[in-house]
Amino acid sequence: MIQRCFGCDARFPLDRIIYTCDRCGAVLEIALEATDFDHPKFAGRGVWRYAPLLPGDAANAVTMAEGATGLHRCDRIGPELGISELYLKNEGENPTGSFKDRGMTVGLTRAVELGATAVACASTGNTSASMAAYAARRGIRAIVLIPGGQVATGKLAQAIVHGAEIVQIDGNFDDAMRLVHELSVEDGDIYLLNSINPFRLEGQKTLAFEVCETLGRCPDVVVLPMGNAGNISAIWKGFKEFRRAGLIDRLPRMIGVQAEGAAPIVETLRSRSETCRVERPETIATAIRIGAPVNWRKAVAAIQESGGDCGTVTDDEIVAAQRDLARREGRFVEPASAAPIAFLRKHGVVEASTVVCVATGHGLKDPDMVLKTSPTLIRAEPTLSSLREALGQA
Ligand code: F0G
Repeated sequence: MIQRCFGCDARFPLDRIIYTCDRCGAVLEIALEATDFDHPKFAGRGVWRYAPLLPGDAANAVTMAEGATGLHRCDRIGPELGISELYLKNEGENPTGSFKDRGMTVGLTRAVELGATAVACASTGNTSASMAAYAARRGIRAIVLIPGGQVATGKLAQAIVHGAEIVQIDGNFDDAMRLVHELSVEDGDIYLLNSINPFRLEGQKTLAFEVCETLGRCPDVVVLPMGNAGNISAIWKGFKEFRRAGLIDRLPRMIGVQAEGAAPIVETLRSRSETCRVERPETIATAIRIGAPVNWRKAVAAIQESGGDCGTVTDDEIVAAQRDLARREGRFVEPASAAPIAFLRKHGVVEASTVVCVATGHGLKDPDMVLKTSPTLIRAEPTLSSLREALGQA
């Protein structure tokens, strides 16, 4: 395996710490060798089941049994949307409650192999929660930069309890991302674990492998929220690699969803622009409140190569989809993770009978969002008559 520039194809050895190309400044990816695809043997469960297609030594892995999440059929919402098989890939079932754990096990394992003394990230919450937990497991220093006042309570509590050094930046995620990148480039001992890190994305590609193995085939369409756009890039890479290994015979269409107030990639694709930025991103789905996604070129490629699509949903549509999933399918996901269902309800999908929505994070990450919009709770005296009255059965 080798590190390859996504822009100009320049190659860098696997053991060099580098986040963007020396020559053209683009992001990097891990390129596998042709022989890696020759009958890879998978064993066990979760991310490291796919060790033959991953960088790093499974024997040294810093792991917490991540991956192997459920692929749940949405029997009530699916038919209503005209989709005969609608599935939720529930990443909230990961150890820290989001898909980040898939990437973090590979990223942290890499950090240890490189001898890094500290790991760092900028985060809208989930990356920091995951990195803090994996760093704690290994006993390595964790530095987290968060946009002040913009991280959901559950995620912040996770970073705190796992003992990360947390710095609130007076700015948004994009400011924090720029700063932590500069810090880790200047200080070689601090290893950057945002999705600009191609090793982390290798872990995240295993979601595609699991979906294919669970279904026994490739789905028609995969829908997921986009923030920094690492996940859509990673999952698309995963599908392509599974096909290259001869394990599926076609590829899905990738659909990326953004919130209306934070939709730089959707705007770039619509305007065919060569830049990707919105200045003041805004959405209640704080996980994807990002204006300058580092992986935008990879995301654009994933959507275009796959013949997929992208689109926006409003905050109200996100909240409605979150309730819908919770009340009709029994699945509580965080606001960003409800965006795919909101997209399907709003825009529909053509010629697809098997659709997989990626529910990226657990609903308990962000309880305030639910409580803010809830009706006042009913009260009762501790007597049966008062209870009956409260229930309207007096
Ligand atoms: N859904 C959730 C729940 C997320 O936490 C994120 C990203 C995304 C979707 C978007 O994924 O960035 O790969 O396109 N959260 C990052 C963080 C930015 O810091 O936790 P992406």
